[in-house]
Amino acid sequence: MTTASAPGKIILFGEHAVVYGRPAIAVPIHQLSATVEISSISTSPLGTIHVEAHDIDLDAWLHEMNPDHPLAYIIHLTLDELGVHDPPAMGIKISSSIPIASGLGSGTAVSVAIIRSLSNHLGQSLPLKRQSKLAYEVEKIHHGTPSGIDNTVVTYAKPVYYERGRDPEIISLGAPFTLIVCDTGVQSPTAVAVEQVRKSWQDDRSTFESLFDEVGSIVRQARDCIERGKIIELGLLMDQNQVLLEAIGVHSPQLQVLIETARNAGVYGAKLSGAGLGGNMIALVDPANANSIENAIKSAGAVRTLTTEVIE
Ligand code: PMV
Repeated sequence: MTTASAPGKIILFGEHAVVYGRPAIAVPIHQLSATVEISSISTSPLGTIHVEAHDIDLDAWLHEMNPDHPLAYIIHLTLDELGVHDPPAMGIKISSSIPIASGLGSGTAVSVAIIRSLSNHLGQSLPLKRQSKLAYEVEKIHHGTPSGIDNTVVTYAKPVYYERGRDPEIISLGAPFTLIVCDTGVQSPTAVAVEQVRKSWQDDRSTFESLFDEVGSIVRQARDCIERGKIIELGLLMDQNQVLLEAIGVHSPQLQVLIETARNAGVYGAKLSGAGLGGNMIALVDPANANSIENAIKSAGAVRTLTTEVIE
């Protein structure tokens, strides 16, 4: 049996502006992961692949699946990349502890875990850059113009400084830091938020270009703070990035409640994370206070919270 996995992720700084060529920072969440197990089926003919994903009630033969289904798509794409046209019969079993459709990278982690397990099972290894590129192809199904940050952070499984069209840079941490990730419970498809921002940008390019520039400047400062372990300054930058995200128009009343609650509970900084208009907010906290802050945010209506330490 061959097993491989990939972590969840969260965007720390620079969402939306990253679609327009500015840098962004994302970190893996190692306590959440997608895992794929592949076992040989000696009784079936060459090329027969069985796919099982209980989380989404899927139990099917690959040839019966719609080729545009993200799981079928990434399996075919990986086999093509490996130049394998008649793979030995196998069963692919997918499981994940990453909540689905919540900006925590569940789909991406599943893609990366499939790419890894399939290539290992077939005795080949793909460099991280190629793994990330394949996972990017699947991101395009979810929204047409993904920046590429999600597939990058999930594949490299390290804090990354990412700019479209450039090789990602791994950020080394001056000190570990603690985040609370809080889900508003309001589902917000990334494609909808990205499209809304695109319309606003088309209506008023000069305002949006300067907002994105300001975000870019915050991201560069944030990288410096992360590398130097300046956690209090990092929190202030999160608050500044949040102000810009509000101006970009991806705030929501539910995010507002959670962010205000977090601030009143004494966090270093808080902001929405990912697409916005719902989804997640993140708070940077002193680990000694994480429990009480997490409880306060839960009482304010977060449907799920997760405290995570960001490490190298
Ligand atoms: O919803 P998430 O966490 O996948 O974040 C989307 C981030 C955007 O910058 C809005 C889009 C992108 O492709 O980078």
